[in-house]
Amino acid sequence: MYEEAIKNATEKFAAVLKKQLERNDRIKADKEFLDFSKLDKIIIGVVGGDGIGPAITRQAHRILEFLLADEVKAGKVEFKVIDGLTIENRVSKMQPIPDDVLEELKKCHVILKGPTTTPRKGDPWPNIESANVAMRKALDLFANVRPVKVPEQGIDWTFFRENTEGSYAVGSDGVHVTDDLAIDFCVTTTEGTERIARAAFEYAKKNGKTRVTAVTKANVIKTTDGKFLDICKEVAKEYSDIEFDDWYIDIMTAKLVDEKRRTGFQVVVLPNLYGDIITDEAAEFQGGVGTAGSANFGKRYAMFEAIHGSAPRMVQEGRDKYADPSSIIRAAVMLLNHIGYSKEADKLSRALDICMYEEKKLTITGRDTGATNEEFSDYIMETLKTL
Ligand code: IPM
Ligand code: MG
Repeated sequence: MYEEAIKNATEKFAAVLKKQLERNDRIKADKEFLDFSKLDKIIIGVVGGDGIGPAITRQAHRILEFLLADEVKAGKVEFKVIDGLTIENRVSKMQPIPDDVLEELKKCHVILKGPTTTPRKGDPWPNIESANVAMRKALDLFANVRPVKVPEQGIDWTFFRENTEGSYAVGSDGVHVTDDLAIDFCVTTTEGTERIARAAFEYAKKNGKTRVTAVTKANVIKTTDGKFLDICKEVAKEYSDIEFDDWYIDIMTAKLVDEKRRTGFQVVVLPNLYGDIITDEAAEFQGGVGTAGSANFGKRYAMFEAIHGSAPRMVQEGRDKYADPSSIIRAAVMLLNHIGYSKEADKLSRALDICMYEEKKLTITGRDTGATNEEFSDYIMETLKTL
């Protein structure tokens, strides 16, 4: 009796399969990482986004220009400001990333991006796909790297969240089979998992880390999480100096609040949705999502962003100039490291620590009781001059 509904759903499923198989083929074909040291000029795109995005991104941009002034003069680095990744523009074109914006993004090597509004059901906006998720897919930014550090508590974690597959790959194309039955899809590919697992182990190897932990729910989500875990175990065999263990997401979430156990975690590799959830929890120990930066990289492109949202209410209340820019400045540190300017990255990271935790001449409260983000960035640059 459900023939028609099953037939329609099967057609949609066939289209999903085709898209995912083609994507896996593209990953297979894409072997080499871009070598920044071989480029004559590195182009850094700066994308403000929505809400408080433009205000905080402008400050991170100023700081990068300050640090890379000589490189810009010598023609080795160029900044390219890209407008149009606003919710108004995305909605008017009904595209998560309008075509002309995507074309501009593809002209850059790395991108610094402010937060973008993700519409959800019930919002005044149509329910288009998140610009973040679309950008990760469009530029194949498969690794989402989110470091969390609380030195005085012995916390030093780096999360490698798979960024293009799992429950997100088909997140906007699930199927309402009937009024009563909705089905979403979860995707794991061999190539997609190998590359994130390898990225995590390579990072561990280069940074003197001794343990990589995989987190899944492979005891229940047997097919996709099972495959993810199996591949992580295989890749682990190539790195005999690094210990490997695996945890299920539920107990891992609990262990992050266990002060004795949590200091044992170093590098954590995990599928998209678990990575999304647990990196918010982890960032909370460090002072909240507003303090964490996030790198999204693929073989060709990389994008660096704040991990918090666009806080439209702050803009409505005229408080965007008080929004905390520290998360996007942390993202700028990761950008500098990615393109090979590790000395500048270390200096900026040090300046942030001094301004945020040690000297604290200014504080950001999000309102006129604290400093503006421009004053805070000036403070960072003054501090940089002393380093
Ligand atoms: C993040 C965010 C995004 C995600 C949202 C904005 C779509 O929560 O970057 O963690 O779920 O990936
Ligand atoms: Mg998130």
